[in-house]
Amino acid sequence: MRSLFRKKSISQLLQQSRQQTLERTLSAFDLTLLGIGAVIGTGIFVLTGVVAAESAGPALIISFILSGIACALSALCYAEFASTVPISGSVYTYTYATLGEFFAFLIGWDLMLEYIIAIAAVSTGWSGYFQTLLEGFGIHLPTILASAPGSGEGGLVNLPAMIIILIITALLSKGMKESKQVNNIMVVIKLAIIILFIVTGVFYVKPDNWTPFAPFGFEGIITGAATVFFAYIGFDAVATASEEVKRPQRDLPIGIISSLAICTLLYIAVSLILTGMVPYSQLNVADPVTFALQFVGQSSLAGIISVGAITGITTVLLVMMYAQVRVSFAMSRDGLLPKKLSSVHPRLKTPFANTWLTGVIAAIIAGFIDLTTLAHLVNIGTLAAFMLVSIAVIVLRHTHPSLKRAFKVPFVPLLPAISAALCLYLMTSLPAVTWKAFSIWIGIGIIIYFTYSRKHSHLNK
Ligand code: ALA
Repeated sequence: MRSLFRKKSISQLLQQSRQQTLERTLSAFDLTLLGIGAVIGTGIFVLTGVVAAESAGPALIISFILSGIACALSALCYAEFASTVPISGSVYTYTYATLGEFFAFLIGWDLMLEYIIAIAAVSTGWSGYFQTLLEGFGIHLPTILASAPGSGEGGLVNLPAMIIILIITALLSKGMKESKQVNNIMVVIKLAIIILFIVTGVFYVKPDNWTPFAPFGFEGIITGAATVFFAYIGFDAVATASEEVKRPQRDLPIGIISSLAICTLLYIAVSLILTGMVPYSQLNVADPVTFALQFVGQSSLAGIISVGAITGITTVLLVMMYAQVRVSFAMSRDGLLPKKLSSVHPRLKTPFANTWLTGVIAAIIAGFIDLTTLAHLVNIGTLAAFMLVSIAVIVLRHTHPSLKRAFKVPFVPLLPAISAALCLYLMTSLPAVTWKAFSIWIGIGIIIYFTYSRKHSHLNK
C-alpha cells in the first residue's frame, strides 16, 4: 500500500535539473510568447461560434470571464510550483514529489489524454479554416472527406485534420526544434490578425444583437464556460519548458501569468465583438471569425484572417504535440511506461517512436470524432490536472514549508482551495458522455499502473 505513495524527493529532482544538459535560452518574454502560441487557436477561432449558438448566446463573454478566473487561479498554483521545482514533466513531476507515484501516474495518464485529444481537436479547427481558404479558390473537398461522422455535416472522415497532424509529426520526429524565433513570428502574426479583427469588427457591432443576452440562462453560461475553457488550455505547456529557461524561478511565473492575462483580454474583446456583429443563432459554423467578417461584407479581410488563423492554429498543434511527447517521455524514463517511449533515435536524436505513436493515434481520433466531443474530453482532462496542481500546492506547503519559493500563491490554502473547487464545478457541468469516456480512460490507466508501472517503476529498485 505504501508503495502507492512513494515519492521522488525534491532534492532528487533539483539535482536532476542541475545535471541537465539542455541549453537555457528562454527569457520571460519568450515564455510569454510561447504561452500565447500554445493558447490561442481553435478555441477562439472555432468554439466561440458553437458555444454562442448552442449554450451561452451573447453571454459568451461571461462564460469566457468565468473560465478565465478558474484558469487564473490554477495559473498561480502552476507558477508557484514552476518557480519551486523547475524541472520538466510539469504537473506529473510536481505530483510525483508531493502526492506520490500513484497520483503522479494518474495525472500523467490524464495529461496524455489532454494533449493527444487536444491535438486532434485543434486539427479539426485547422481543417475548418483550411477548407474555407480552399473554397476561396473555388476548390471544394467532397463532403465525406471533409468532416468526422457525428458533426452533422454528412462527413465520413476529416482528411485535412489527419494530414496536418501527420505533417507536424513528421516535422517533429525529424528533430525540428521549435525555434523560438519561428514561434515568436507566428505568434506575432496571430496577435496581429486578432487585433485586426477587433478593430475592424467594432465598427460593425449592432448592440441589438446582444439581446436577449442570456437566451439559455445561467446553466447555458456555465456549460459555455466549461466548453470555452478549451480556449485557455496551453499556458500549462509553458511549465514543460522549465529546463530551458534562463532564470526559471523568476521567469516561469511571469511567462505563465502574463500569457494568460493577454489571452484573457483578447478573448473577452473577441467574444463581445463577434456576438455584436452576428446574431448568435447564426454562429454555429466551423469558422465564426471569418464568417462574421463575410457577414458584414468584409470578404477580403476574411481571407487574410483565414490565413492567419491557419498559421496560428499550427503553432498550437506543434506545442501540444511537443508537450505530449515530453510527458510520456518523462513517465517512460521513470519506468512507469514502456522503455520504447523514451528511446531516442540514434541519428535524429529525437523520441522518434514516441512522436509517431502520438501522431498516428491523434490523427485517427481527429479523422473520426467531431470537435465538440473532443473539446469536452480535453477540458475534463485539463480541469482534473488543474485541480490536482491546486491541491498539490497546499500539500507541498505542508510537507515542505521551508523550501525556497520564488513565487508564492497568496492566501494559501484559501485560493488553491477555491481553484480546485471551481475546476471541479466546471467538470461537473460537462456532459455525461464526457464523464463516461473520462472514467474509461482513467480505468485503463489504473489497470496499466497495477499490472505494469508499479513493478517497473525505478523507485522499485
Ligand atoms: N487553447 C488551445 C486552442 O484554443 C488548445 O486551440
